[in-house]
Amino acid sequence: MPQHGAIFEVYGRRRARSDGRAFGNTEVKDMKPQIPQPLTTEHQKLHRRLDAALDAGGEIADATRRLIDVMHPHFVREEEIAMPPLGLLGSLSRGEYDPEMDRVLEMTDALGAELPVMLKEHEAIREAAASLSRAAESAGRNDIVDFCADLGVHAATEEEVLYPAALLVGDIVRRRRENDAD
Ligand SMILES: [Fe+2]
Ligand SMILES: [Fe+2]
Repeated sequence: MPQHGAIFEVYGRRRARSDGRAFGNTEVKDMKPQIPQPLTTEHQKLHRRLDAALDAGGEIADATRRLIDVMHPHFVREEEIAMPPLGLLGSLSRGEYDPEMDRVLEMTDALGAELPVMLKEHEAIREAAASLSRAAESAGRNDIVDFCADLGVHAATEEEVLYPAALLVGDIVRRRRENDAD
C-alpha cells in the first residue's frame, strides 16, 4: 500500500471509471475525455519514487513529505482539468468532431482561468524538490537526486507542451462546434 494512499485512491477511481475504449472509434458512444494512459503511468511512476524517498527516513523523508503536501492537490487538479482534454488529441488531429466532445470545454476553460495558479504551484514543487535534492545529495542518494531532476522536467513538459495542447483542444472543439452548428 503506498504511503501516500490518498493520491492513489484518486488514480484508482479514475481507473475504475475508464473502460479502455478509445476515442476515434466511431462506435464509441461515450466520448468522455479520458487521460491518455502514458500520462497516468508517468504520474504513477513519480508517486512510486516518492514512496522510495519516504522509505529513506530522516531528513529525506521530512523533505519528501513537504514535497507531497504541495504536489498532491496540484496533481489532483491536473488530472481533473489539464489531462483529460489530451485524450481528444488523436480524434481532433484526424479532423473528427462529436458534440460529446463539448464537455471538455468546461475543463479547458477552467484550465485557462487557473493556469497562473498551476504555474505558481509548479514553482512551489520546484522549491520543495530542490530542498529534497539537497538532503538526498548529502546522504549520497543519487537516485533521489535524479528523481528531483526528473520532476523538474515533468513540470517543464507540462508548461511547454501539455497545458498549451490542452488549451488548444478547447479552442479546436469550440471552433468545430460552431462549424457544426452552421
Ligand atoms: Fe503532473
Ligand atoms: Fe504539474
